[in-house]
Amino acid sequence: MVSEVKEKLGVASILVNNAGINRRTPVTGDKATVVKDWDDILEVNIKGVFNVTHAFLSQLIESKGRVINIGSIQSFVHVAWPNSAAYTTSKHGVLGLTRSFAAELGSHGIRVNAIGPGLIETPLNKTARDANPGMVKQVLDHTPLGRAGKPIDIAGPAIFLASDLSAYVTGGIIMADGGFRTI
Ligand SMILES: NC(=O)c1ccc[n+]([C@@H]2O[C@H](COP(=O)([O-])OP(=O)(O)OC[C@H]3O[C@@H](n4cnc5c(N)ncnc54)[C@H](O)[C@@H]3O)[C@@H](O)[C@H]2O)c1
Repeated sequence: MVSEVKEKLGVASILVNNAGINRRTPVTGDKATVVKDWDDILEVNIKGVFNVTHAFLSQLIESKGRVINIGSIQSFVHVAWPNSAAYTTSKHGVLGLTRSFAAELGSHGIRVNAIGPGLIETPLNKTARDANPGMVKQVLDHTPLGRAGKPIDIAGPAIFLASDLSAYVTGGIIMADGGFRTI
């Protein structure tokens, strides 16, 4: 994939590590399921960020590129929805990896930042939102802007971090959470 990108698009200069999964089995549930969910969530959400960034390193060094990782409010807090332990752990890890890569790759001219979305209406959480309006209300009652986010709400921060407008910004996280973390 990495060589195909170079062949078709040229040297990569912007990498967005967006892929992520979540599953909602309580940690007290069926052991085999809980363990598999733990492995799968960490594999995609944190090892995936490492793997893809590492695979693109030579291109990013060549382009003095920008990396944007998708964290979460769960990079900081645990949201009390079932089975958030693996997801919370993975998103805390995304923030740690963002800071570590920013520190290590800055001398190569690579900037590494994260975006921390709050509750955004996407397929990732559609089943949970539909099945648990009470849980959605719990999050929105805690959100000063009083609404869930849309995918477009992530686009502006991503464009900022991908552009030279953020030329002196690295190792940071821009929260796009309607103010969730302020209260
Ligand atoms: N929706 C939210 O409320 C919310 C909040 C905070 C953070 N996030 C994060 O935002 C990112 C995008 O999520 P979304 O809400 O758009 O969910 P989504 O399910 O709509 O999109 C996730 C994407 O990741 C891809 N993906 C999953 N596993 C993959 C793998 N192994 N290899 C390649 N691609 C894979 C899926 O195909 C899908 O296109 C995720 O990292 C998620 O954790 C979402």
